[in-house]
Amino acid sequence: MLILGIESSCDDTAAAVVEDGSRVLSSVVSSQDDIHGVYGGIVPELASRRHIESIIPVVDEALLRADVTMDKIDGIAVTQGPGLVGSLLIGLSFAKSVSYVKNIPLTGVNHIEAHPLAAFLKEAGQEKATPEFPAVALIVSGGHTTLIYLEDYTSYKILGQTRDDAAGEAFDKVAKLLGLGYPGGVVIDRLAKDGNPHFIEFTRPYLAKGNLDFSFSGIKTAVLNEVRKNPPAPENLKDFAASFQEAVVDVLVDKAMWAMDATDAKDLITAGGVAGNSRLRGRLKETADKAGIRLFIPPPKFCSDNGAMIAALGYHQLKKGLFAGFDLNARPTWEGF
Ligand code: KG4
Ligand code: ZN
Repeated sequence: MLILGIESSCDDTAAAVVEDGSRVLSSVVSSQDDIHGVYGGIVPELASRRHIESIIPVVDEALLRADVTMDKIDGIAVTQGPGLVGSLLIGLSFAKSVSYVKNIPLTGVNHIEAHPLAAFLKEAGQEKATPEFPAVALIVSGGHTTLIYLEDYTSYKILGQTRDDAAGEAFDKVAKLLGLGYPGGVVIDRLAKDGNPHFIEFTRPYLAKGNLDFSFSGIKTAVLNEVRKNPPAPENLKDFAASFQEAVVDVLVDKAMWAMDATDAKDLITAGGVAGNSRLRGRLKETADKAGIRLFIPPPKFCSDNGAMIAALGYHQLKKGLFAGFDLNARPTWEGF
């Protein structure tokens, strides 16, 4: 079964064709970093306008690379939230229109729920193990930091989430504070590689032992206070970046392990844009290996926003009969699906 996944919740326009919820036939992402970079953050109105320009070429390219036409698509999965309203509207309107005109079943996907499904994706010719249920998923993105207990592809319980800033948001804000540019996460990751992670011991907000919620605004304030008190010399920027990154990574790794201890899950999934962070990937792998936990982190291109994860979750929703009406709330049955 071929699913077309469409993602436009934030600043990337993405589309992918995925077979049976896992085999990626194509995945196209059109980034908007060039237009938002000068503002140091996403400008919602500019994002919506760029989505309008990009959506048709991106979907066309995804179909072309998968070597299929729209008539071969069995279902359309589209991000219905959370995200920027104007951005979401573009993907949703496009998906609904194609669904209506071509009579293709439609399902609306929650972006955060879709991130961990990236761990099940396989590219052409690739054979690899995939997570088994129940699993714990650590979802670390620009808008969310959440630990969930996944019972199967479509059902889960929330174990903990951020009470204030998301991890990615903290990366972006600290990068801005240090004058490192946008998007901040990748810049900090790159710079921190040569930095001393113990140059400054920033606060580690654990809340309480065993508490699976997160709070990252304190680390951000600690960096701000330090920058005001002792403005870093240009040669120490890498040490600042590494020290901040280490504080965030310590908390993420420890809480992921606490969540594994607190549940009967055998496998740990880590996904979302921040899961592309090289230090987090390395530290998680080392810790999981020691604990005998199977760790699944998608390659960085499937950690950040993409249409393939939307198609993957959409496939499992459609199989369960979770069709969307054109108001995206009604769940009509679809003749012949
Ligand atoms: O999942 P994602 O692509 O979009 C959202 O759903 O928010 O995540 C974007 C976030 C941004 O905050 C970005 O700075 C962060 O992920 N990010 C990183 C890295 N790559 C992206 N953070 C740390 N290290 C990275 N290598
Ligand atoms: Zn995301």
